[in-house]
Amino acid sequence: MSEHYAPVSEHLSDPATARREGRRKMDWALQHMPILQELRESFTAEQPFEGEVIAMAMHVEAKTANLVELLADGGAEVAITGCNPLSTHDDVSAALDGHDRITSYAVRGVDDEGYYEALRSVVSHDPTITVDDGMDMVKIVHEEYPELIDTIVGGAEETTTGVHRLRAMDEEGALEYPVFAVNDTPMKRLFDNVHGTGESSLATIAMTTNLSFAGKNVVVGGYGYCGKGVAKKAAGQNANVIVTEVEPRRALEAHMEGYDVLPMQEAAEKGDVFVTTTGNRDVITEEHFEVMKDGVLLANAGHFDVEINLDQLEDLAVDTYEARDGVEAYEMPDGRRLNVLAEGRLVNLAAPIALGHPVEVMDQSFGIQAVCVRELVERGDEYEAGVHDVPDELDREVAEIKLAAEGVEYDDLSAEQREYMGSWEHGT
Ligand code: NAI
Repeated sequence: MSEHYAPVSEHLSDPATARREGRRKMDWALQHMPILQELRESFTAEQPFEGEVIAMAMHVEAKTANLVELLADGGAEVAITGCNPLSTHDDVSAALDGHDRITSYAVRGVDDEGYYEALRSVVSHDPTITVDDGMDMVKIVHEEYPELIDTIVGGAEETTTGVHRLRAMDEEGALEYPVFAVNDTPMKRLFDNVHGTGESSLATIAMTTNLSFAGKNVVVGGYGYCGKGVAKKAAGQNANVIVTEVEPRRALEAHMEGYDVLPMQEAAEKGDVFVTTTGNRDVITEEHFEVMKDGVLLANAGHFDVEINLDQLEDLAVDTYEARDGVEAYEMPDGRRLNVLAEGRLVNLAAPIALGHPVEVMDQSFGIQAVCVRELVERGDEYEAGVHDVPDELDREVAEIKLAAEGVEYDDLSAEQREYMGSWEHGT
C-alpha cells in the first residue's frame, strides 16, 4: 500500500458517482477499440500477467483506462498515476480504482509535490514492469528506488520525449533495465503522433476557443511526426500553414509539401494560431511575443510545458486574466492580448474539455503497449538493459488485428516474390 499519496477515491467527495461516469466513458471507448478487445479476450483466458506488478504513469483517461484494465484482467496488479498534472479525468481514475487489482493515484490538478508523491505511491507497490509516458516513472525508480531494479523485468515508453530521455540515459550507461520504445514503432508513430496529435490538438483548440482555422495563418513549430499531422489537418481546414524547423531535411519536406517555411521571428509577426510540436524548450520566447498580433492563440502539443516560455510572457504582461475556460489572456503594455491555451501544457490532453487522441488511434498505441508487456513477461530476460525497438512481428500482429477488425483485405507475397525480394542475383 501507499506510504505517500492516497488513491483517487480518497480525494473525491462522491467516488461512487464518479466511478459510474468513468465506467460509461470507458465502455464507449472500448466499443471502438477492437485491438484491445481481442487482446483482452485472450489475456483474460490465459492470464499471462499473473504475479506481475505493473507501475504506470500515463494520461489517465478512458482509452488508457482500457489498457490498464486489460493488464489487470490478464492477471497483473496495476498501480497507476498521471503523467501530467492536468490530463487526468478523475471519474475514469475513480473507475479504475474501483477494480480489485488496480490502484489509481491520478488526480486532476495535482500540484508538483503531489505529482511526485503519487509517482512514489505507485512505486511503493514494488513493480516488476513499468509503463511510462514521458519517462518519469523510470527516472524515479532509478534515482530513488534502485533496489527495485533487480526485480524489474523491463518497461515500455509511450512518447517521443520519453524515448529521447531514455536514449540519453542509455548513452550515459545509466539505464539499468530494458525498455521498449513503443513511440518509435510504425503502428504507433505513423498514426498516433501524426493523425492523433493533428486531429485532437486542432479539435481542442477549436472547441476551447469557438474559433475557426479557415483563412488563418497557423504556425506549426516543428515538422516532425506531430507537426506533420497538425500542418496537414490545419491545411485541410483551409488554414495557411507556416512551418518553423531547425532540421534542414524536415524544413525541406515542409517546403515541398507546399507550406511556407520561416524562422520563428518572421512567423511570429504573421501567425494567428501557434502550435508547438518540437519536444524542445523555448520555441516561442520574448522576442516573438513582442511582435505578435493582437488576439493570437498560443498552444503547445509537445510533451512538456516548456515550448512556450510563459515566464517571459508573464514578465512582459501588464495584466493576465482567464478569457475563457482553458484560455489565459496576457495583456501587453501596448494593449495586445496573447491567449495561452491549457497553461502551455499539451493542449489536446490538458485543456479543460480535452479528450486526447481519437479512440481508434489509441487502440493501436495501446495494443502495442499490451503486446510489449506480454513480450517482457514471456521473454524479458532475453533483452539487455537499454532502449529496444518493438520487435517487428509484434507491430505486424497489431496491424493484422486492426485490419481484420476493419474488414480490410490485402495481398500476400507469392513464393516467387519472396525469393526475388530476398536475393541479390537478379539484375537487368
Ligand atoms: P519528432 O522528433 O518527430 O519532431 C520534432 C521536430 O521538432 C523535429 O523535426 C525537430 O527538428 C523539430 N524541432 C526541434 N527543436 C525545434 C525548434 N526550436 N524549432 C523548430 N523545430 C524544432 O517528434 P514528434 O514525434 O513529432 O513529437 C514531438 C513532441 O510531441 C514530443 O514532445 C512528443 O513527446 C510529443 N507528443 C505529443 C503528443 C500529444 O498527444 N500531444 C502525441 C505524441 C507525441
